[in-house]
Amino acid sequence: MRGRTDIVVGVQWGDEGKGRVVDVLAAKAGVVVRYQGGANAGHTVVADGEKYVFHLLPSGILYPDKLCVIGNGVVMDPEALFDELDALAARGKKTARLVVSHGAHIVMPYHKLLDKLSENARSGDTKIGTTGRGIGPCYSDKYGRIGIRAEDLVNADILRAKLSLTLALKNDMLTKIYGEKPFSFDEVYEKALAWGRRIEPLLGDSFLEIDEAAESGQNILFEGAQATLLDVDYGTYPFVTSSSPCAGGACTGAGIGPSRIDRVIGVVKAYCTRVGEGPFPTEERSETGEFLRRKGGEFGATTGRPRRCGWCDLVAVDYAVRVNGLDGIALTKLDVLDDLDEIKICTSYDINGKVQKHFPSSCAELSRAKPLYRTFKGWKRSIADCRRFEDLPEAARDYVRFIEDTSGVPVLLIGVGPGREQTILRGI
Ligand code: GDP
Ligand code: IMO
Ligand code: MG
Repeated sequence: MRGRTDIVVGVQWGDEGKGRVVDVLAAKAGVVVRYQGGANAGHTVVADGEKYVFHLLPSGILYPDKLCVIGNGVVMDPEALFDELDALAARGKKTARLVVSHGAHIVMPYHKLLDKLSENARSGDTKIGTTGRGIGPCYSDKYGRIGIRAEDLVNADILRAKLSLTLALKNDMLTKIYGEKPFSFDEVYEKALAWGRRIEPLLGDSFLEIDEAAESGQNILFEGAQATLLDVDYGTYPFVTSSSPCAGGACTGAGIGPSRIDRVIGVVKAYCTRVGEGPFPTEERSETGEFLRRKGGEFGATTGRPRRCGWCDLVAVDYAVRVNGLDGIALTKLDVLDDLDEIKICTSYDINGKVQKHFPSSCAELSRAKPLYRTFKGWKRSIADCRRFEDLPEAARDYVRFIEDTSGVPVLLIGVGPGREQTILRGI
């Protein structure tokens, strides 16, 4: 029988705890696959008291008996990948077998520079606050059909031809638009060939590996990076990333047909955060926001930037349920709310005096949304040691049930701390 295929997607603006959820679910999977994004992601796993942050490696990498896949939809920075692999080796960790798709696009040095230059060129309200990892420029080249793919790094002639074309364009842009120095062709070419020598043994037909593993009965786990509200189509454009984190992105980004997907699990933080610019209706620029940032350790796992914090937004959750077809929710960081007297959750928006329950697809309209809240009493005790739903205080159970009832989606996993073991599983 074919193995089960699950997609894990972020529901809010990223950093919901996808890495820790994937790490827990990976115990029952054979294959863990990243399908989009790149080293802009920062996925934290805390296992046996040790902390790991993965940017490109799938969060199943700590299981030596699994297969981890970097799919064709990912934009791959070889230096970031090698740093991660070296750091795990230096910690003496045995890791999963890794396969990198031939078709994954390579983040080149000029992508990272252009990301920073184009961000610096924006001012005021037009700034996006990118991670500076070269993501937008690399995806632009992919769709402009001038990108370098992983397979090109191991073919010196093809690489020379492709890089000649692309680098001439990039150097024009750098010198004529930004007044920067051009890149030396020889230096970039030699660097790319060196990457190729190290990447060659990892290259494979990733979609085939995934499909064969599923056919042999193994469960497959797709690990989304970023999140629904950062999706280039469904997010708060233009304050988004340049890929498709939503569940549909797994089909194109990893080569799996929609009919093969069994379950989509959305990761929801028990409150909400956002890094970078763009509208965020439930943001608390108050003591509560400060409290959540401090207690939740809300500083970017990739850039270290302080995250903007606010209340959980069920209007946004409803949107994510529809866009991704969520079958289950993984609710993380419930423990961060332990000490609060009151907990708010947004149930609708007031937009220009009209109450609305649907997330506006226009970013301009969302900027005008004022959140309307339901207020819950806090439970005022630590839930860090709870391991069953029944162990949670009644007020915490009420909060979880309200999320289930309003979204119409069962909460299948609850995080009560960052550790692998600090997880309540409910029939998943
Ligand atoms: P991701 O990008 O979605 O994988 O999330 P990040 O790793 O960027 O951010 C999530 C942060 O919350 C990390 O520091 C995790 O260790 C931490 N975390 C995840 N789940 C929980 C939880 O249930 N409780 C607490 N207190 N921390 C958690
Ligand atoms: P994970 O997978 C939170 C945000 C950036 C910026 C916007 C565009 O850890 O949840 P980009 O560098 O992608 O062009 O930046 O998207 N962003 C993230 N925010 N978590 C992430 O990843 C993010 N990846 C990108 O802050 O606002
Ligand atoms: Mg993160």
